Amino acid sequence: MAPTLRSAVRAIARSLLVVPLAMALLVCFAGPAAAARWDAATLTVPADPDGASVTFSEKEIKTGRKIFNDSCGTCHAGGITKTNQNVGLDPETLALATPPRDSVAALVDYLKDPKSYDGEYSIADVHPSLRSSDIFVKMRDLDEDDLRLIAGYILVAPKVQGIQWGGGKIYF
Ligand code: HEC
Repeated sequence: MAPTLRSAVRAIARSLLVVPLAMALLVCFAGPAAAARWDAATLTVPADPDGASVTFSEKEIKTGRKIFNDSCGTCHAGGITKTNQNVGLDPETLALATPPRDSVAALVDYLKDPKSYDGEYSIADVHPSLRSSDIFVKMRDLDEDDLRLIAGYILVAPKVQGIQWGGGKIYF
């Protein structure tokens, strides 16, 4: 009886040691793998059209995602543009606009005074912007830093989500 009890106690003691150890190992190996999509390269995007770049923190991108989903999600969920599928938020479409919109500074400019795709005229009266916050009331809550975080999210999202961001685009 006594040896059985002792070995049972030993078994329990061993599992008490093994379980936390296994969990620690799991965190060690799964942790970096899960974090890999948020590494510095992923978080680094063009800052302006002149070639400067900026590295966001993961926290900033998550805040940007939240603001984006709240303020822009009704029309741009997943990086598409519901009412104009040809002008999505994917990097290629942003890059081909005049002037190119695939940088933080250009996106912030756009959200202050959005222009037609060819850059010819303002569309602030039909697209949310700081200039048209009298019509688009959600824009009243956003300041310059919020716009910067939204822009960061728009540029990091395709690097994390790949083709799913603004992808599966259909041309009409
Ligand atoms: C009411 C719907 C609606 C909302 C809300 C909206 N957008 Fe848009 N967005 C559009 C439409 C429509 C276009 C295409 C405009 C055009 O014809 O050039 C567009 C275009 C854009 C473009 C240009 C894309 C390109 O490839 O050139 C950007 C950038 C953009 N929106 C960002 C935002 C952000 C950021 C928000 C939130 C602050 C937002 N939009 C909110 C409808 C919306």
